[in-house]
Amino acid sequence: MNMHGAVAFDIYGTLIDTQAVLARLTDLIGDKAPTVSRLWRQKQLEYSFRRGLMGDYCDFSVCTRQALVFVCREQQVAISENAVEQAMQAYAELDAFSDVPAGLEALRQQGRQLYAFSNGSRAAVQHLLHRAGLADFFAAVVSVEDVRSFKPDPKVYQHLVRSCGLPAKEVCLVSSNAFDILGAAHAGLSTAWLRRDPQAVFDPWEVQPDITLADFSALASQLGPAK
Ligand code: LAC
Repeated sequence: MNMHGAVAFDIYGTLIDTQAVLARLTDLIGDKAPTVSRLWRQKQLEYSFRRGLMGDYCDFSVCTRQALVFVCREQQVAISENAVEQAMQAYAELDAFSDVPAGLEALRQQGRQLYAFSNGSRAAVQHLLHRAGLADFFAAVVSVEDVRSFKPDPKVYQHLVRSCGLPAKEVCLVSSNAFDILGAAHAGLSTAWLRRDPQAVFDPWEVQPDITLADFSALASQLGPAK
């Protein structure tokens, strides 16, 4: 295992719990909320992938909003403009998973530099981290907005590596999103897949994560020694 001077964290689904939006959606649209919530996340990512390929960058919140409107239409769920606003507001105020503060603290005590790394805009990510009381853990928030593309475009991982000021192998990306782990590995980074959902399947591609974690608290002990 390589030594990791820097550890970067994916935000949505890794540090921040996106499923928590389900309760708000249930208030807004009723019993189709679980289906809509799941498809919403899938469509949001699909829109970001497509825009990345097309070179048609927009703020990630635009992907999020358009995905919700699409999924509601497809599922024949009536949703007012106002309800879309409220769902977006819930998305902007999601909480962190409960294991995150202790896990980050353990890494900080090892002297590692921590980065937040997201498709989200810097402002959106900073807002989430402040609300969750996590902002002080991070040396910087690295957003794809700086290079106007989305994960898994290699250029967004290269931007992260540049921001860390280390060789790619000494930067470890921690993500629960398999596509993000594959993107990081492809760009030469070290990787730790956080299997938040025990049912989650890693894509059977040529590359596997360097580390697979069952829970966040195992991270500090499973990474190699800090530089
Ligand atoms: C992010 C998405 C991919 O935070 O979860 O970048």
